[in-house]
Order: sequence, then structure tokens, then C-alpha cells
Amino acid sequence: MQFPAYRPRRLRKNEKVRQLVQETTLSVKNLIYPLFIGPGSHTARPVSSMPGVTQLSVDRAVVECREAAALGIPAVILFGIPEKKDATGSEAYSDHGVVQQALRAIKQTLPELIVVTDVCLCEYTDHGHCGIIKNGGVDNDGTLELLAKEALSHAQAGADIIAPSDMMDGRVGAIRRVLDSNGFDQVAIMAYAAKYASGFYGPFREAADSTPQFGDRRSYQMDPANGDEAMREVELDIQEGADIVMVKPALAYLDIIYRVKQEFGYPVAAYNVSGEYSMIKAAGMNGWIDEERIILEVLLSIRRAGADMILSYFAKDAARLLQDK
Ligand code: PBG
Repeated sequence: MQFPAYRPRRLRKNEKVRQLVQETTLSVKNLIYPLFIGPGSHTARPVSSMPGVTQLSVDRAVVECREAAALGIPAVILFGIPEKKDATGSEAYSDHGVVQQALRAIKQTLPELIVVTDVCLCEYTDHGHCGIIKNGGVDNDGTLELLAKEALSHAQAGADIIAPSDMMDGRVGAIRRVLDSNGFDQVAIMAYAAKYASGFYGPFREAADSTPQFGDRRSYQMDPANGDEAMREVELDIQEGADIVMVKPALAYLDIIYRVKQEFGYPVAAYNVSGEYSMIKAAGMNGWIDEERIILEVLLSIRRAGADMILSYFAKDAARLLQDK
């Protein structure tokens, strides 16, 4: 096909024609809305590095979920910020933990809303690492047991989907086994399978107060230079029982999203992380970019790369923008 026989502009003439040939769709049905759950009641503490995002007490989280559900958002993911942190992150698997309380409250009011829970220890440990410390390092196998306990306690409180984000080896299998042997074979696992050691998590660590107190996460999160290794990580998680595999962050890793979808044909989630959110917010607030237009463009690009679902702090904004369209 050559010009002048082929004239691509023919199919760009007006909105109706453009819609006829549109290849990728973005719908509110693809979105998962992250929420930070903190202690107390009637509290919404702003996260200064993420304008528009707040740390919510359980009662306020229920209100936020109701709003999200009314906008057509099908799912939320919960992150817990406990009142007290300790060396083994014991609030993570306490029946009275903030996430466990939020799960019960949300499920009571909005039983149809899908509730995903982030399973990790970094928000709960006083040292800020995603596992327990042994001989100065993060102990993989000792951590698995605690992650499995945390996952089980989320399932018992009503979680629909468990999302381990710690990047310990073997955790998907450990969680699948504990869920199955306790009658939770219908609780799904969304594995943070290819999770990179990324600077884009900076604002989240302020929101969750989870910056490591020594060292960094490079001994468990992936090296941004590696793509083939991401395929091995995804393959392992699928073998261990992951139902959905996640790539995180999204924007600097669209090639990884694409490869995972092509190679495995599994449901793929992408995490449009805190730093990606804050960059757009900051530039939008300065009037340097058209924030609304860019939110939709970015989310669409993540879908085009191959993600089925997107975790995004823009979920509510995007839902409203998609309604207006
Ligand atoms: C917990 C976790 C993190 C994020 C999600 N789960 C932080 C980290 O690994 O440091 C980041 C999410 C975001 O930046 O929006 N391990």
C-alpha cells in the first residue's frame, strides 16, 4: 500500500470515523483505585507529595469506596499504615489491623465492590523493609511464613484478591497453599510479579511512611535494566498459582507490559505508581500540561501496551472524565 492509493487521513476525518477504527479502549471497568488506610476515625490526612491523595481512617475509607463504586470503579486496593510498627510487622497479620477492619467495614456496606489487599511488611516494620531482618539482610524464607499469615488474615476479613508486593522468592506458592488449606480456594492472587527497584515509589513511601531505615530494596526488587529476568519472574509466579500478574511501575516499563502479555497471555495488571501520579499533578498544577488530557492519554497507553487492568490514583478522575466524553 502506497500513497496516493493509501491515505491514512481518510479515517481521521471526524470523531465518528476515528471511533470506528479505534484499536484500544479505556473504560472505568479497567481501573483499580488504591487507598491508604490509617488509624483513628473521621480522619483524612493529606499526603503532601501526592496532591489529592489522603490517608483515610476506616470510616472515611468506606465513604471513599462508596464514591468510587458510584462512579463505576469495580475494585479498590488497600494499603495499611498501622499505629505502631515493630521488627516483624505484627500489625500486618493482626485480626484488628487497619486493613482487616477496613475489609470488614467495606464488605458490610458494599459487598459487590472487589477488594484487593496489598500484602507486604514494609508498611508495618519499624525498619521499613519488606521482610524480617536476619544477619543484616532481609531473610527470604522466614518472611514467607509471615506473608502467608497476613494473606490468610486478609482473606478471613473478606478480601477478594490478595496482592503480594514484597518480591520474596516463593511467596506466591506459600500464599496459595495457606489459602487453599483454609478453605479460601476462591480468593485470587494478583502477584506483583515484575516489580522494579524504582525511584517512582518516592511519594508512596511518604504516604505509607515506609522508607527503609537502612539500605534499599535492590536485593529483592528488580534491576530496571532487566527484561528477560521479568519474564522469568512472571513465569515463576504463574507456576506458583498467580491468577493475575502485575508489572510495576507502568510508564517506564511499557515494554515489559507488552512482553508479558505477548508471552504469557495471562491477565496483566499495571501499576501507575505514585511518582507517575505526582509528576502529572505537579505539572498540571503549574499549568505546564493539560492534566485531564494527559491522564487519559497515559492510561490509554498502558492499555495499548497490553495491560488488562490499571491500578491508578487517577481512577476517580479518569472515571469522571470518561463519563463526560
Ligand atoms: C509495598 C509497596 C510499594 C508500592 C506498592 N506496594 C512501595 C515500595 O515497594 O517501596 C508502591 C506504590 C506506588 O508508588 O504508588 N512494598
